[in-house]
Amino acid sequence: MAVSSAPGKVYLFGEHAVVYGEPAVPCAIERRATVEVATRSDGRLRVDAGDLTLDGFTVEYGGDGAPDVDVPESLVEAATGYVDGAVEQAREAADAPEIGFDVAIESAIPLGAGLGSSAAVAVAGIDAATRELGVELPPEELAERAYRVEHGVQDGEASRADTFCSAMGGAVRVEGEDCRRLDAPSLPFVIGYDGGAGDTGALVAGVRELREEYDFAADTVSAIGDLVRQGERALDENDLDELGRLMDMNHGLLSALGVSARSLDAMVWAAREAGSRGAKLTGAGGGGCVVALDETEATRTALHYTPGCEEAFRAELDTDGVRQEGG
Ligand code: PMV
Repeated sequence: MAVSSAPGKVYLFGEHAVVYGEPAVPCAIERRATVEVATRSDGRLRVDAGDLTLDGFTVEYGGDGAPDVDVPESLVEAATGYVDGAVEQAREAADAPEIGFDVAIESAIPLGAGLGSSAAVAVAGIDAATRELGVELPPEELAERAYRVEHGVQDGEASRADTFCSAMGGAVRVEGEDCRRLDAPSLPFVIGYDGGAGDTGALVAGVRELREEYDFAADTVSAIGDLVRQGERALDENDLDELGRLMDMNHGLLSALGVSARSLDAMVWAAREAGSRGAKLTGAGGGGCVVALDETEATRTALHYTPGCEEAFRAELDTDGVRQEGG
């Protein structure tokens, strides 16, 4: 049996614009998905997702039989797509095309909420499954293989940001195929979660249409790129006030592109009024999470009392990427 975990992430800056080749800076957070893998000789795959902050389910499939489940198919498809992809990547990397697995997933990262839960499951899954087969992959290769999984499941609408960040940990910079780690100070992230999720594919398609129809939208995407470059300097200089100001502006630009939501705006304003250095939505938008910078408890408390905010929590920058758990 092998067990690995990988972190979720927030976007400090640059989501959506990264799809058009602008740079983005995602940061790993101390909320992890843990995947336990054991081989089985009958070629079948059993996935037990007991704690995905959704109703748990167990599904057994592979070999001849159809999946044997009792939960909605869309949920099973979404979750099993990433696990299937991770298993496929591990079989290929270890040259063991016929091997079966028992997979158990536990995750403290809300699903589909802009915190990179699927990337964390894919990265940790490939790492645990390959180690179980006696193969040790470097984090860069895990990131690349997990990216292929996301790319496949999301019909080609994925950037390398989530998977690279989850594999490497810390703050990273992603611009097209150029992915690297950044030196970053410890960042006091506070996250507000509205309990919902956005449809990443539909939101990305919406921005694409807007960008084709209106010059202002294309200009907004490049303005986000400029803002990210300024943000990198602020990160380098450890200037939290400037980082906060730029996060506020990034949220405004994302709103102009139509990807915010009433619940996200309400949480962003609650964070600002509580004295956070800045706040923005994180990830695809439409619902899910906002991220604020505040080293005090004020923002978390304010979010806690904000209508529409289901959960507010602190999540420091996690400098660890994928790692082996247990013995
Ligand atoms: O909501 P998430 O964590 O899937 O982030 C999506 C980020 C986008 O930039 C909108 C798309 C992408 O793959 O980069």
